[in-house]
Amino acid sequence: MIGKQMLDLSGKNAFVTGIANKNSIAWGIAQQLHQAGANIGVNYLPDEKGRFEKKVKELVEPIAPDIIVPCNVQDDALMEEMFKAIANKWGKLDIFVHCLAFADKQYLEGDFSIVPRDAFSKSLEISAYSLVHFARLAKPLMKEGGSIITLSYIGGVKVMPSYNLMGIAKSALEMNVRYLAAELGEQNIRVNGISAGPIRTLASSAVGGIRDMIKHMDNAAPLRRTVTQEEVGNTAAFLASNLSSGITGQIIYVDAGFEIMGM
Ligand SMILES: NC(=O)c1ccc[n+]([C@@H]2O[C@H](COP(=O)([O-])OP(=O)(O)OC[C@H]3O[C@@H](n4cnc5c(N)ncnc54)[C@H](O)[C@@H]3O)[C@@H](O)[C@H]2O)c1
Repeated sequence: MIGKQMLDLSGKNAFVTGIANKNSIAWGIAQQLHQAGANIGVNYLPDEKGRFEKKVKELVEPIAPDIIVPCNVQDDALMEEMFKAIANKWGKLDIFVHCLAFADKQYLEGDFSIVPRDAFSKSLEISAYSLVHFARLAKPLMKEGGSIITLSYIGGVKVMPSYNLMGIAKSALEMNVRYLAAELGEQNIRVNGISAGPIRTLASSAVGGIRDMIKHMDNAAPLRRTVTQEEVGNTAAFLASNLSSGITGQIIYVDAGFEIMGM
């Protein structure tokens, strides 16, 4: 018999990476997980002037995270510190959200073949390899199983204007999801991705023509619009919860249906 089940994350420990400001998709996700009852931990990207630190700390105040730590995914020591903080505070981790990416702006437009080796490596390291590294660190803390969620975009599957290098990074990221899901399933750790429709954020403003992409959704997507941070957050909450206990290794489109359209 199917029992009554609500989306309830109370008592669950959820770490959300990638909050930069109020428009960040990660902020939409953190708020929805918090609303569902989860304990929240977040990171900020450290920089010399401490701009992100100040902004992120002010922004997350209303949800009172248990953990706020610096983390740059190119810095192994900071990543390990972050997981030490999680282990010290919570002892176990249930939900991990990977919501970050980077590519040099100049390689998101024009000819794709101009991308140099260092820009290619840096983008894949930050945007795709980081998920593998995080999963390795999360695995011993997900003692009772867990849910790892990442963020992708259709430009990792199909050629989209002004996405270029980031498309390659998303393609690698989506394959990481499948290989990690195959490995970690034994431990009841599920790994899924959300492929979101275009949303105006700091990162997406580096993608030329984000405004046009959003406008295009008004005509081309079945729902005749793009999606909101909150809608992505709701799907993340579903993927984080037991309601999705049979789902792993999937990329779920939260894109107002755009993915099904041919023209
Ligand atoms: N905005 C969109 O239209 C859209 C659509 C689909 C997928 N996504 C994906 O959603 C995720 C979040 O992006 P967003 O649009 O919310 O933008 P955002 O700028 O708010 O978030 C990007 C985050 O990446 C972090 N970051 C960059 N380099 C880092 C590093 N070296 N170490 C640690 N963190 C680093 C930044 O600090 C920032 O918090 C990304 O993976 C993005 O590709 C965005």
